[in-house]
Amino acid sequence: MEPYNPMAHIFLPILLFSSIISTNIHACNQIEHNSLLSFTLTLSSSPLNWTSSVNCCQWNGITCNQDGWVTHLLLPSEELKGGIFPSTSSLGNLTHLTHLNLSHNSLYGSLQTEFFSFLKHLEILDLSYNLLSGELPLYLPSSSIKKLDLSSNQFHGAIPSSFFQQTRNFISFNVSNNILSGPFPSSICLKHSSRLTRVLDFSSNKFNGSISRGLGECSELRIFRASHNNLSGFLPEDIYNATKLEELALALNSLIGAVSDRIVNLTNLAILDLYYNQLSGVLPLNFGKLSKLKQLNLDFNHLEGALPPSLMNCTNLIEIHLASNNLEGDISTLNFSKLSELSKIDLMTNEFTGILPISLYSCRSLKAIRLIENYIEGQIQVEILSLKTLSLLSLSGLTNFTGAMKILMRCKSLRTLILSYSFKGEEMPADSGMVDFDGFQNLRYLTLYHCELTGQMPLWLSKLKNLEILSLKGNRITGPIPSYLGTLPKLFCISLADNLISGEFPKELCGLPRLVHEPTAAQVVDDYLELPIFTAAAQNPIFYPRRLSNFAPTIDLSLNHINGRIPSEIGKMRLLHNLDLSINNFSGNIPNEISNLKNLENLSLSMNHLSGQIPSSLASLSFLKSFNVSYNDLEGPIPTGTQLQTLNASEFKGNSKLCGSPLPNECLNKSINVDNKNHLVLDNKHQIPWFYIFFALGFIVGFWGVCGSLIIKKTWRYTYFQFVDNLQDRLYVMMTVHMRRRLRG
Ligand SMILES: *[C@@H]1O[C@H](CO)[C@@H](O)[C@H](O)[C@H]1NC(C)=O
Ligand SMILES: *[C@@H]1O[C@H](CO)[C@@H](O)[C@H](O)[C@H]1NC(C)=O
Ligand SMILES: *[C@@H]1O[C@H](CO)[C@@H](O)[C@H](O)[C@H]1NC(C)=O
Ligand SMILES: *[C@@H]1O[C@H](CO)[C@@H](O)[C@H](O)[C@H]1NC(C)=O
Ligand SMILES: *[C@@H]1O[C@H](CO)[C@@H](O)[C@H](O)[C@H]1NC(C)=O
Ligand SMILES: *[C@@H]1O[C@H](CO)[C@@H](O)[C@H](O)[C@H]1NC(C)=O
Ligand SMILES: *[C@@H]1O[C@H](CO)[C@@H](O)[C@H](O)[C@H]1NC(C)=O
Ligand SMILES: *[C@@H]1O[C@H](CO)[C@@H](O)[C@H](O)[C@H]1NC(C)=O
Ligand SMILES: *[C@@H]1O[C@H](CO)[C@@H](O)[C@H](O)[C@H]1NC(C)=O
Ligand SMILES: *[C@@H]1O[C@H](CO)[C@@H](O)[C@H](O)[C@H]1NC(C)=O
Ligand SMILES: *[C@@H]1O[C@H](CO)[C@@H](O)[C@H](O)[C@H]1NC(C)=O
Ligand SMILES: *[C@@H]1O[C@H](CO)[C@@H](O)[C@H](O)[C@H]1NC(C)=O
Repeated sequence: MEPYNPMAHIFLPILLFSSIISTNIHACNQIEHNSLLSFTLTLSSSPLNWTSSVNCCQWNGITCNQDGWVTHLLLPSEELKGGIFPSTSSLGNLTHLTHLNLSHNSLYGSLQTEFFSFLKHLEILDLSYNLLSGELPLYLPSSSIKKLDLSSNQFHGAIPSSFFQQTRNFISFNVSNNILSGPFPSSICLKHSSRLTRVLDFSSNKFNGSISRGLGECSELRIFRASHNNLSGFLPEDIYNATKLEELALALNSLIGAVSDRIVNLTNLAILDLYYNQLSGVLPLNFGKLSKLKQLNLDFNHLEGALPPSLMNCTNLIEIHLASNNLEGDISTLNFSKLSELSKIDLMTNEFTGILPISLYSCRSLKAIRLIENYIEGQIQVEILSLKTLSLLSLSGLTNFTGAMKILMRCKSLRTLILSYSFKGEEMPADSGMVDFDGFQNLRYLTLYHCELTGQMPLWLSKLKNLEILSLKGNRITGPIPSYLGTLPKLFCISLADNLISGEFPKELCGLPRLVHEPTAAQVVDDYLELPIFTAAAQNPIFYPRRLSNFAPTIDLSLNHINGRIPSEIGKMRLLHNLDLSINNFSGNIPNEISNLKNLENLSLSMNHLSGQIPSSLASLSFLKSFNVSYNDLEGPIPTGTQLQTLNASEFKGNSKLCGSPLPNECLNKSINVDNKNHLVLDNKHQIPWFYIFFALGFIVGFWGVCGSLIIKKTWRYTYFQFVDNLQDRLYVMMTVHMRRRLRG
């Protein structure tokens, strides 16, 4: 408490009184009044309530100075629509304006240099999140400008070389998320320009070429972002002179060269975000001097060598992302125990060796560990249970399946468990020792990919009431598909492909609540994954969005020994997007009811023993993108409809009695066109090794084994283009990018 001050009692009423007087005194200037009114007329829809008073200084969003001049016009998120800023805009009459904030509206048009030249006193200009377009004006409006935010518009062209010339006090500049191009304006802090600049955000544009020297002059620079452009060349050497930098973000460009030892000069650096470039070389040995570092993201580069041990001295680290590089070294020599803030560590797809470092278990804040696709080995230790918040775990090279499951099922927060290339040839015990199972309470995403596990599908899977995605692709699982799978309330994505599963397609599976009823699907909480996931395809990895709801509802049972008929109940799974039953031993007809699956995008029934005709109702599946019935015993005409005729003939081949477009053989009146020339006998699928070769490739390519293709929801796409402000989500999205990785089997 401040000491009692008797003056305050007297002073306060005076203050109030004078402020009442002053609003009356500061009546608004007539020209400005009219200008503001004509501004509202330029808006095609104006929800502004500005007619209520004569004094425009009292209007919503307006502040005047002592003399009644309008100084602030603040109308963010007012649902303003319309074309503004022609050179004759009435706003140009507000010559005393210092603050103009029209962000988050739907204003369009371009910024005219002439118009700007009237606003000589402008200090803060925020036009972000509008629909403005055209090129940038030749000059910034005034030498007093401090903050300029033009982000999330559609400005294009290069930044004029004269743009920053008049600035003296320029502090913050944000043009992210536009279509600006041309050379990067490195000279922003040189000569005439201001050296006070603290924030520069050029992300998500199309700037190209290399970043020339100049930024080193920005001695006050705190935040520098130019991620997601087309920048090439080396990191500018003088960037290390901007020693006040707290965030350096140049991800998703084509930068080359090494991260220099001089980076340790940036002692204030908290965020280093250079993922997806072509950086090479080793990480600086004295990296540990960056004691304020919180986020390190160098995913998808060509870095090599070992991790500098000093990294373990960066005790403020929250996230380490070094996935998909050529890093190596014995990981168990690193002692992580000082990283008490560490929340995420992703070293996926490198060449690290050694055993799983136990010291990781002392990082009590860990939420995500991903070490998959390295040469790291080991067993899950019970100490992992001290990681109370662990939500995502992704490892390979493990042994002792039963031991691992018994421990991990007690990880209360675990939502995503991805284990691959582990447990080679171990047996999944039917249930011994897991009878009183109530573990994995929060597990939503379980993948045991390419583990060559034997045995039948274990009964404890039936207890995973929160499971949404299950992939057991690439094992040696035998026995039938258990019918309890159909009772898991949240399951919507199943891959059991490439196993030795036999028996029939269980009818119960067709009752999966999330594939049957829309309401159930809507009730599910939409979860985020702690780390981005991607299919590490040879050339173009696809980054999946991190919401589980963006995965496509899928049933993939391909490459097994399933026999019997495809049950007609399959038509109940109305929400299914992908159905793959290829390379099995299904016989009988293709059930007519498949045409009830109105959302179906991909349907593969190839390499079975299906007979009869293709139901004509299939032609009504309007979302169907791929359809493959090759190598069965189908006959008769291919149904005519919009979709099926656009497909490749190869999707139908190997059915000697099938006819009509897109196959070359026309349908004669009666099917006498049996031409045994084309007939491939497929009683034993092992007769066609070429197919296996192709298929094996397919598996390597899609080795994450997640479900099917991605549905990009409209809202999600919007989020992407609006460049959501989360360090990770920002750009880790459906970018089909080159992945210069060797493949591992
Ligand atoms: C405002 O400026 C425009 C163009 O500069 C001018 O034509 C107009 O007369 C001015 N006054 C008002 C009240 O709009
Ligand atoms: C318009 O302004 C008047 C006076 O300022 C106020 O009473 C009224 O509620 C406002 N109307 C709306 C829709 O904001
Ligand atoms: C403009 O207004 C929005 C919404 O109130 C605010 O978030 C933003 O910081 C403002 N811009 C500036 C530059 O102050
Ligand atoms: C720049 O604007 C975008 C929104 O368009 C925002 O997400 C980002 O955080 C801003 N940059 C800085 C450095 O504030
Ligand atoms: C930048 O892009 C423009 C147009 O796309 C092109 O003409 C120019 O050569 C590019 N510059 C560099 C350095 O790649
Ligand atoms: C980036 O620049 C290169 C050449 O400078 C060009 O070939 C490529 O198309 C550009 N990429 C984009 C996304 O503009
Ligand atoms: C960095 O700054 C120092 C001194 O301020 C200067 O001598 C040096 O040339 C600068 N380095 C670069 C690469 O600009
Ligand atoms: C940068 O680091 C070098 C040594 O790596 C040192 O000589 C130099 O003085 C440092 N510069 C600044 C500005 O800290
Ligand atoms: C880590 O820091 C400690 C104390 O600050 C220091 O003694 C040690 O040499 C550092 N380790 C490395 C590898 O830099
Ligand atoms: C790691 O360092 C801690 C002290 O920071 C020490 O107690 C622990 O024994 C070390 N662990 C290993 C495996 O070296
Ligand atoms: C498997 O793990 C369990 C639990 O950690 C352990 O008790 C058992 O000894 C392990 N078995 C082998 C063969 O290492
Ligand atoms: C395929 O199913 C038929 C019965 O439909 C059966 O006779 C045959 O043995 C099965 N083949 C294999 C390889 O399972």
